[in-house]
Amino acid sequence: MRIANKTALVTGGGSGLGEASSLRLAQEGARVFVTDISHDSAERVAHSIREVGGKATALHHDVTEESDWLRVHDAIAKECDSLDILVNNAGVAFSGNIEETTLADWRAVNSVNSDGVFLGMKSCLPLITKPGGSIINISSIEGIIGDPQLIAYNASKGAVRIMTKSAALHCTQAGYGIRVNSIHPGFIETPMVAAGVAAMGDAAEEFHQRIIAAIPMGHLGQAIDIANAVLFLASDESRYMTGSELVVDGGYTAH
Ligand SMILES: NC(=O)c1ccc[n+]([C@@H]2O[C@H](COP(=O)([O-])OP(=O)(O)OC[C@H]3O[C@@H](n4cnc5c(N)ncnc54)[C@H](O)[C@@H]3O)[C@@H](O)[C@H]2O)c1
Repeated sequence: MRIANKTALVTGGGSGLGEASSLRLAQEGARVFVTDISHDSAERVAHSIREVGGKATALHHDVTEESDWLRVHDAIAKECDSLDILVNNAGVAFSGNIEETTLADWRAVNSVNSDGVFLGMKSCLPLITKPGGSIINISSIEGIIGDPQLIAYNASKGAVRIMTKSAALHCTQAGYGIRVNSIHPGFIETPMVAAGVAAMGDAAEEFHQRIIAAIPMGHLGQAIDIANAVLFLASDESRYMTGSELVVDGGYTAH
């Protein structure tokens, strides 16, 4: 029980990395608020945690809406004296280069991936009142390296990387005892990646093989690989880490 008696909020907790992170945090003793724009998905995950004796609550939540954050904030404050762990995980993928991406596309991606993380940190900071709090922002290797087909996604994940450092510095200067770190997954097998590969149509298999060939470890990661990194940053085992970037990518960005 590495995070016994702690309270966690995981956004986008109804699928993929958010689902695996919610389950892993609950396994190690946290009470988890699983939020998602799809309430059914969040409820499915919360139900599976409760079924094995864990504590979980599902909430409908669009991370782009400040009013939703206030509602989630109030729901947590009503039931818990403090939030300890915030995992800003909700995100959307979008493929397009600088010439074909419209301003509307750009805003849609950045609104979820970047504004959502900003709003999450801003609205939850007052809830993290006990020392040992941890905010974990899910960026991407695409927040570190560029991809010609990911102009909006690259920008949104780069924003998450650097806003993490700004918030981390603010929290230490203010003496809050709250750490803020980012995680940078490589290619992980989740519905998001499966949809991206499938969208390639006839070229899907070739694209899949090209990704695998570029990963030094020779295979995609599993959601649990990221969930374990989330757990580490959530726990006091990472107590000397703040403003840092945890890359979990099978070696992709090593060359
Ligand atoms: N899978 C990967 O290889 C990979 C790699 C790097 C980074 N990431 C990042 O990890 C995070 C999770 O990705 P995933 O692969 O699990 O994707 P996923 O599509 O399986 O899950 C994303 C979840 O976010 C939810 N969501 C989408 N928009 C939302 C909104 N406005 N408000 C609240 N919830 C919303 C979806 O309903 C879904 O449940 C994302 O931020 C993604 O960019 C994923």
